Amino acid sequence: MSAGSPRRRRPIATAALVTVGLVLMGGLYAAASSLASPARAGTNEASPELISQGAQLYKEGCASCHGLNLEGVPADSTNKANPKVNGPTLIGVGAAAVDFQVSTGRMPVGAYGKQVVAGRSSYTEEETSALAAYVASFAPGPAIPSKEDLDTTDASLAEGGELFRTNCSQCHNFAAQGGALSDGTFAPSIDPSQPNHIWEAMLTGPQNMPVFNDTTVNPDEKRAIIKYIASIKAESNPGGAPLGRVGPVSEGLLLWTLGLGALIACSVWLGAKAK
Ligand code: HEC
Ligand code: HEC
Repeated sequence: MSAGSPRRRRPIATAALVTVGLVLMGGLYAAASSLASPARAGTNEASPELISQGAQLYKEGCASCHGLNLEGVPADSTNKANPKVNGPTLIGVGAAAVDFQVSTGRMPVGAYGKQVVAGRSSYTEEETSALAAYVASFAPGPAIPSKEDLDTTDASLAEGGELFRTNCSQCHNFAAQGGALSDGTFAPSIDPSQPNHIWEAMLTGPQNMPVFNDTTVNPDEKRAIIKYIASIKAESNPGGAPLGRVGPVSEGLLLWTLGLGALIACSVWLGAKAK
């Protein structure tokens, strides 16, 4: 009877496998949704604790260049050796500007050459939101985008491409690879940029970049541009998945089958005629 038992075990094993699979999927889903919810809540309503944490971090890391009350440091007051390091006022720049500058590692300024460059951020995500909350508590300004703001599902890729070519490519190049500007400055490559940073850069216009507020480029158009930049990223990755190429493949398959079918039909017909 030993030959029968492994056979009988099989359905049980299958059932066990399915159960394990279902449990795993459930667990993954729960983990994913619990990961997603704090991000949704982490927008611009800040608790007093977060603001006071931000105040402390600001005093230690930013006040020397931006002033104790965010008023900025006039270019000709202190730091005569390098007046450029004197920071502008941060009143009204909004949480978006702080989030962009700090999480892309531009602030606090380390070495200052022709322009402040991106790098590794010296603050955690929580510290960054504390700093943003503190600065935003002084005066309203552009907000950090929410998940809904960045949802590009319904955005038009074609419109995004057109908007990108008219508004962004003169500085960032047609393939978003960046380019030189005048006086030794440059526009960086934005191909690796995260959607939230693209949104924030448009809203706040860092350094030589113009501001694209919601009247110049409305939120739908911003989403279209973000979708387009993401598509450039997907295209320039030769080893990556051929996203959205399912259509041509199935069309090709159809033509191939029809064409072969026609050829076979022709040869059968010719063969019949020859007889
Ligand atoms: C060594 C001086 C220095 C320090 C320290 C510094 N900044 Fe700045 N910051 C600058 C300068 C200079 C600029 C202007 C850059 C430019 O536009 O060329 C700037 C610009 C900014 C802007 C953009 C303002 C705008 O109008 O969009 C923000 C936001 C900002 N800083 C936040 C911070 C925060 C937050 C900290 C602390 C974590 C910080 N900075 C630390 C010098 C500094
Ligand atoms: C006049 C030139 C100019 C135009 C036009 C321009 N940018 Fe920029 N952009 C810049 C410069 C300069 C920087 C770097 C600023 C800095 O380092 O603080 C920049 C930075 C950025 C960044 C941040 C990249 C990083 O390294 O983190 C993004 C994203 C971005 N731009 C997107 C756009 C988009 C999208 C458009 C079109 C809607 C656009 N830019 C139009 C000059 C421009």
